[in-house]
Amino acid sequence: MSAPEVLVTGGTGVLGQRVVERLGAAGVGTRILSRGGRAGTVRGDLLTGGGLDAAVRGVDTVVHCASSPYRKPRQVDVDGTRRLLESAAAAGVSHVVYVSIVGIDRAPSYPYYRVKLETERAIEGSQIPYTILRATQFYDLVLMAARFLDRLPAMLVPTGFLGQPIDVGEVADRMAGLALSSPAGRAPDIGGPEVRTLESAARGYLAVLGSRKRLVAFGLPGRTARAFREGALTCPENAYGKVRWEDFLREELRAVRPEGAGR
Ligand SMILES: NC(=O)c1ccc[n+]([C@@H]2O[C@H](COP(=O)([O-])OP(=O)(O)OC[C@H]3O[C@@H](n4cnc5c(N)ncnc54)[C@H](OP(=O)(O)O)[C@@H]3O)[C@@H](O)[C@H]2O)c1
Repeated sequence: MSAPEVLVTGGTGVLGQRVVERLGAAGVGTRILSRGGRAGTVRGDLLTGGGLDAAVRGVDTVVHCASSPYRKPRQVDVDGTRRLLESAAAAGVSHVVYVSIVGIDRAPSYPYYRVKLETERAIEGSQIPYTILRATQFYDLVLMAARFLDRLPAMLVPTGFLGQPIDVGEVADRMAGLALSSPAGRAPDIGGPEVRTLESAARGYLAVLGSRKRLVAFGLPGRTARAFREGALTCPENAYGKVRWEDFLREELRAVRPEGAGR
């Protein structure tokens, strides 16, 4: 393995792992930041700043995928990114690539999206040249939600929410490509191949599973729900992904149960 040139924060996560794989396949040495410090990673914590100086030492580019949506999001994402940028600037890092989410400025009533916006601002305000890529929801996240809803006797789904989810491997391809290119500022957003309602995605999930479970759609009040119904999280003009939701589901299913088994 060549000397690490790229530090991947969140390199143990759903997206980051795949970015590391792609950079490795391109012959680029990577270093993974992780709180656990298991073999193959360097220990560091955005929440405390511990380990960040050592993690960025000697790297040229930082691909920043770490995030903590549910536990202290502002402290980890916004303040932690500022700490990371300070360490990176002091170490002479020449490019920071950050992954954000499509439509966060169109649904700022959702607290995590405010945090992502502020994190983008921190990166834009730093002295280090940057690239910010906004992607739509990953299929893995939609599947997690579908599995959760599938635990109930009927699948309850909010009416009219529009999404354009994408295969995380395709986001990783783009992130790796951007990391190996010159800083681009705000890159064009990327989304999956289809804009669909959540109901349609849930029906697709049940169909692929061969499940006859009932689906019950219900109206959800509030500003965030309205923004989601109005398509805040979509970018139809930037349908970058090729993998369809049902194709992703069939692949996932193949991995967990034998071919052709229904339920
Ligand atoms: N999921 C989606 O649908 C989606 C869509 C668009 C954009 N994004 C963005 O893509 C990025 C990655 O999402 P993901 O779903 O791949 O995340 P994930 O699987 O939940 O992984 C989160 C990563 O963050 C790291 N992390 C958490 N707290 C940390 C801390 N205090 N210090 C250092 N590292 C910390 C974790 O590393 P350790 O546990 O090893 O420390 C882990 O590798 C996020 O910025 C997210 O906003 C996600």
